[in-house]
Amino acid sequence: TSRRLFLRAKASSPTTMANEEVTGGSLKQQLAKLFEESLRITVPEELDVDPAIAPCQNPKFATMPWACGQKLKGRAPFKGPQPIGQAIMKNLPASEMVDSCSIAGPGFVNVVLSRQWIAKSIQKMLVDGIETWAPKLPVKRAVVDFSSPNIAKEMHVGHLRSTIIGDTLARMLEYSNVEVLRRNHVGDWGTQFGMLIEYLFEKFPSGEVASDQAIEDLETFYKASKQRFDSDPAFKERAQRAVVSLQAGDEKYRKAWAHICEISRRGYEKVYQRLGVHLEEKGESFYNPYIPGALELLSKKGLIEESEGARVIFIEGKNIPLIVVKKDGGYNYASTDLAALWYRLNEEKAEWIIYVTDVGQREHFEMFFTAAKRAGWLPAEDNKYPKTSHVGFGLVLGEDGKRFRTRSTETVKLVDLLDEAKSKCKAALIERGKAKDWTEEDLEKTAEAVGYGAVKYADLKNNRTTNYTFSFDQMLNDKGNTAVYLLYAHARICSIIRKSGKDIEELKRTGTLDLVHPDERTLGLHLLQFAEVVEEACTNLLPNVLCEYLYNLSEDFTRFYTNCQVVGSAEETSRLLLCEATAVVMRKCFHLLGITPVYKI
Ligand code: ARG
Repeated sequence: TSRRLFLRAKASSPTTMANEEVTGGSLKQQLAKLFEESLRITVPEELDVDPAIAPCQNPKFATMPWACGQKLKGRAPFKGPQPIGQAIMKNLPASEMVDSCSIAGPGFVNVVLSRQWIAKSIQKMLVDGIETWAPKLPVKRAVVDFSSPNIAKEMHVGHLRSTIIGDTLARMLEYSNVEVLRRNHVGDWGTQFGMLIEYLFEKFPSGEVASDQAIEDLETFYKASKQRFDSDPAFKERAQRAVVSLQAGDEKYRKAWAHICEISRRGYEKVYQRLGVHLEEKGESFYNPYIPGALELLSKKGLIEESEGARVIFIEGKNIPLIVVKKDGGYNYASTDLAALWYRLNEEKAEWIIYVTDVGQREHFEMFFTAAKRAGWLPAEDNKYPKTSHVGFGLVLGEDGKRFRTRSTETVKLVDLLDEAKSKCKAALIERGKAKDWTEEDLEKTAEAVGYGAVKYADLKNNRTTNYTFSFDQMLNDKGNTAVYLLYAHARICSIIRKSGKDIEELKRTGTLDLVHPDERTLGLHLLQFAEVVEEACTNLLPNVLCEYLYNLSEDFTRFYTNCQVVGSAEETSRLLLCEATAVVMRKCFHLLGITPVYKI
């Protein structure tokens, strides 16, 4: 250990690193790196110190919002944190990043970030692009299983939530350089097809399944067939035989099935296109061939038991077992999910598999995740990879507090909802007098961006696990925490830059950013925390964290803009760069949230 002490002495000698690289990664990651070495050589191993770097909550430290803390977990004799804190500070390598450090209470070292370093990092981002701010995540490839409606049944608001939340998570992971397999696990297999096909054969005896039936008609047929199924035993029997024929690969049934899927797919595609969401369909049927093999593996591990004629997996702490083969010998949702998980882990080599559905399905996911852990497919510890996560979300409520529905139909037609948001936005633009100097195309494009953005943001800004109330009035308000407000705020920043008459690209290269005024510093620091926030939103799978950041950013900008003159001031160049940096970060937030930014308003 004396060698270590020697190293320590060397590290603490004040070496100036004038041209130190701004290394990228989140602020937290960069600070962690800086502290790593110091902690390693300072802290006795037997203390088992778990270094934690977290923003400092104390507003008194407005200019020093980062603390390098050490949580002491060990039971080894310990003489109080002070000496260790001192040693950590002493051994911190000289860095352009840090102005000064101080001991802040037991076990914490407060860090004052250098104003110049903050400014320099922001300017570097402006030149090199915001991609250089992407956080580093511990996985290379992930599956995000989202949207996943059920063929022939309605694509309800829950699927809209899944689509919006899943897309955002996929975008955030993609930004963080994770390869994302965007999977649409559509319900395209199962007993519903028997009754539906049988019903359609009856209705269209000439053979062709009403070639141009839109998805809405399929829903009607589905409901009618379900009614027949429940009330007419003869029909029920035929429907059950139809399932067998379909699964045996009978051509006539396969064709009808494929056709029904195709009709539904076209309906979904319209919604995805409007939302700007890209998905790759691998429906339940895709995993069908893998079910026997997957169950065989589980069986070999002794996990599958016989119970009341079915084959099941008993899960500790659960009253009912997970059924994997039904009494009639058929497979189900759970067996498909187990096969899909096997496929994703072994064939697709995904390290993180994320499922986005309503919270009502939590039990299902918990159960088959547990089964997979017991089979050794997944490590038992939750913080190890490969891992699975269920991203559950709450209900969408109407303004009456009940489950959201429209007057005429039982569920809300998603496309209608988007149409309505758009037309309301267009009306608002016209009311603001935009029809005079904007082209029709401008109006349409802006109304679309704002309208669809409003629907998405109203969903994403809530903690996903809670229910939220769908209200056009609320989401289309141009004040408060709404997409409308944020999109307008961004457009206003763009117009400040435009109206300055300066070439911002030129300024990025030749100008210098400095953060003199306290409001500039606050804004600058907030910008720098972007990667941090994306990292947190990814790690905890919480898009609302990014929404909150975006809203606060726009508030910080407003405060800066109110108190600091930009155009015509002595600090014009620096402040225009700060405006541009804010606009760039806001745009990236919009992009990650699947919202199209607008540039004028
Ligand atoms: N189709 C299901 C539903 O509508 C969602 C599927 C979610 N994904 C999965 N792998 N189970 O509820």
